[in-house]
Amino acid sequence: MYHLTRKLFFCLLSSISIYLINTTTTTLAQPPFLHHYCENAANYTQTSTYQRNLNATLTALPTTNNGFGFYNLTTTQGNDTVNSVALCRGDISPDACRSCVNDSIVNLRQICPNQKEATGYYDNCLLRYSNKFILGSTRISLYHFRQNRQNSTDVDEFNGYLRPLLTKLRGEAAAGGPLQKFAMGNTTGPGFSTIYGLVQCSPDLSEIQCSDCLENIINRIVLYFNGKVGGRILVPMCNFRYETYRFFNQSARVIRPPPPPPPPPSTPPPTPSIPGATTPPGIKNNTTQITIIITVVVIALVVIFVASLCIFMRLRKKKRQTTPPLTHENGHTETTNISTAESLQYDFITVKAATNNFSDENELGRGGFGTVYKGMLGNGNRIAVKRLARGSDQGDIEFKNEVLLVAKLQHRNLVRLLGFSIEGSERLLIYEFMPNASLDQFIFDPTKRTIFDWEKRYNIIKGIAKGLLYLHEDSRLRIIHRDMKASNVLLDEHMTPKIADFGMARLFKTEETQGDTSRIAGTYGYMAPEYAMYGQFSVKSDVFSYGVLLLEMITGQKNQYFQIGESLEHLLSFAWKSWRDGTPTNIIDPALKVGSGSMHDIIRSIHIALLCVQENVIDRPTMATIVLMLNSFSITLRVPAEPAFFIRSNTSPEMPLLHEYSSRSRSSQYSMNEVSISDFIPR
Ligand SMILES: *[C@@H]1O[C@H](CO)[C@@H](O)[C@H](O)[C@H]1NC(C)=O
Ligand SMILES: *[C@@H]1O[C@H](CO)[C@@H](O)[C@H](O)[C@H]1NC(C)=O
Ligand SMILES: *[C@@H]1O[C@H](CO)[C@@H](O)[C@H](O)[C@H]1NC(C)=O
Ligand SMILES: *[C@@H]1O[C@H](CO)[C@@H](O)[C@H](O)[C@H]1NC(C)=O
Ligand SMILES: *[C@@H]1O[C@H](CO)[C@@H](O)[C@H](O)[C@H]1NC(C)=O
Ligand SMILES: *[C@@H]1O[C@H](CO)[C@@H](O)[C@H](O)[C@H]1NC(C)=O
Ligand SMILES: *[C@@H]1O[C@H](CO)[C@@H](O)[C@H](O)[C@H]1NC(C)=O
Ligand SMILES: *[C@@H]1O[C@H](CO)[C@@H](O)[C@H](O)[C@H]1NC(C)=O
Repeated sequence: MYHLTRKLFFCLLSSISIYLINTTTTTLAQPPFLHHYCENAANYTQTSTYQRNLNATLTALPTTNNGFGFYNLTTTQGNDTVNSVALCRGDISPDACRSCVNDSIVNLRQICPNQKEATGYYDNCLLRYSNKFILGSTRISLYHFRQNRQNSTDVDEFNGYLRPLLTKLRGEAAAGGPLQKFAMGNTTGPGFSTIYGLVQCSPDLSEIQCSDCLENIINRIVLYFNGKVGGRILVPMCNFRYETYRFFNQSARVIRPPPPPPPPPSTPPPTPSIPGATTPPGIKNNTTQITIIITVVVIALVVIFVASLCIFMRLRKKKRQTTPPLTHENGHTETTNISTAESLQYDFITVKAATNNFSDENELGRGGFGTVYKGMLGNGNRIAVKRLARGSDQGDIEFKNEVLLVAKLQHRNLVRLLGFSIEGSERLLIYEFMPNASLDQFIFDPTKRTIFDWEKRYNIIKGIAKGLLYLHEDSRLRIIHRDMKASNVLLDEHMTPKIADFGMARLFKTEETQGDTSRIAGTYGYMAPEYAMYGQFSVKSDVFSYGVLLLEMITGQKNQYFQIGESLEHLLSFAWKSWRDGTPTNIIDPALKVGSGSMHDIIRSIHIALLCVQENVIDRPTMATIVLMLNSFSITLRVPAEPAFFIRSNTSPEMPLLHEYSSRSRSSQYSMNEVSISDFIPR
């Protein structure tokens, strides 16, 4: 008993001190943003006009509420202009809105201490300031999305319910008028579920701008979180969110279209009173005499209260330590538990034994960077081991760092790099093992290819596109594959395509010496002309290779050995001629013609492939657009021009070429467990 009392006493003391600390620090510590962005292109200096202007603007901004949670203030002094806007979610009470804007102002200034332009998003509001014009601007430079981890059971069914809801809300919000463009609602979902949706535009957008902005981000559902039961995309001037639970205040006052006379802005919405919470269950001051029993009861209640408070605080503390904020939401797969390169390091002897001393019968394949062996670890786990050819100039530390970075690239459509091993000049990369070998062994095999109907091929085509998009856009490293081809796509037991050999240029760095046959290579026939001829590569050279691969999937024939009747013709030129002459079905694999695949979809895929292999780099779509085009049949495709035909010389088709290499790290202003995509609107 004494022990318990003492514990309670200390707990009481510590709760009081925690309370004190909390109250003294509330004005300093704002909750973290969901996402923020500091534009590093333009900075101001301390005590500059811009800083003075910014201080004045942000101080006055909270007073400019238009009555519906939209704040805007522009201040010009000298030749420096500061534009600022804040926008609260439409269902938020005025009090919560004010405090959110207040928090944003303090927080954003701390996070972006000297940038002229910055944006911060909270659940309830966003704040933005810039030296450039903001009002009415629709330029989107960054999409931020967050997704619910949970998958829906049937993607198409789920989207079938979700899409009409969001379309309806989009129309409502766009028609909301100059004060507020916000809509929320629900619809029945699959089974007995309900899908809740919320959309909002900055009210300075016109109706059409708002509608376009929302359409643009809603179209990205298939791109960023197709099949998830919840998600949101935030851009500065519009956003949406959907979940299968109610996350908004349904009874909030919202402007409904049509709003013939818009309510006068001078009447702010009434401050809501929180029912119940403000009336404390005070002890009635009766004239009854105070008995010892009451005292005991009161003491007992206090003790119970303190005890439960302590338990609650502990639980909360525990919860805080183990779960990140917004536990139901998922940044992306980039969060890994890998903290050091050492945790990825495998013992060389073990790996050597696992591959039976790199025996020939364990050899899976040979590529420019080395030989791949299959292996089995002591615990029965199967692995694939790439034994790098000697000749990398990378130091051990640099190699480890690169492995660490590449191992963080995790995506359903990428072969996973599990670790590495170093011994002297020997370097091994350890990958997950793929039982079904590579795509070329199926698609170019006359018998195996017949089991690949259009549906299977289309899933593979889409999977590869998503994997490449992840490499290009999603990860903090911008990885250009540079050797995208059928043999670099592995299939797992469910025929899910996984891209192999990405990031090799990082893992196998060679000094650019004069004309030495380096192993950093592309493959003839898949290479974009600018890459093959001038060694210039970009994400668009991967797009070119993807287009060739797509045509191979449709024709079932290798690019280099495309056969029509007796003659060999280049796949691209034949595809183009067939397309131009209005006979695109000529190039379709006969096995597909008898299947159930829609001829229309197949021809559309030929169309996409032809856009990918355009000679002019800027005419090729990005992977983001390709994924959109593959998933949404409502997107109209441009008419392709004649593609680039790469004239093959007499060299062996798989011969590697020498190319310069450079790798670009993307700016690391985003935290690892959030997903941000820098992506411009596809046209
Ligand atoms: C602005 O400041 C940030 C750091 O505060 C820096 O990373 C960035 O390079 C600066 N930009 C320019 C253009 O000087
Ligand atoms: C602007 O505000 C920051 C802190 O909010 C302060 O450090 C700085 O001195 C102010 N600058 C001017 C010019 O008032
Ligand atoms: C802004 O004004 C200052 C002096 O007032 C001048 O030196 C500077 O060039 C001006 N900047 C621009 C962009 O006009
Ligand atoms: C934010 O709120 C605090 C107290 O609630 C107040 O002292 C401060 O002035 C506010 N800041 C702004 C920028 O409005
Ligand atoms: C959702 O699906 C993805 C890929 O299909 C899978 O990796 C993930 O574990 C699934 N999430 C849940 C919560 O089942
Ligand atoms: C769906 O929204 C309507 C109002 O549009 C509301 O009356 C109803 O209660 C909502 N249903 C659920 C399940 O929340
Ligand atoms: C922005 O503020 C200005 C001046 O306070 C006001 O005239 C204008 O209507 C506001 N714009 C919007 C879209 O609310
Ligand atoms: C929801 O909005 C109504 C109307 O503004 C308000 O009275 C109520 O307190 C809000 N509920 C919550 C949970 O914020």
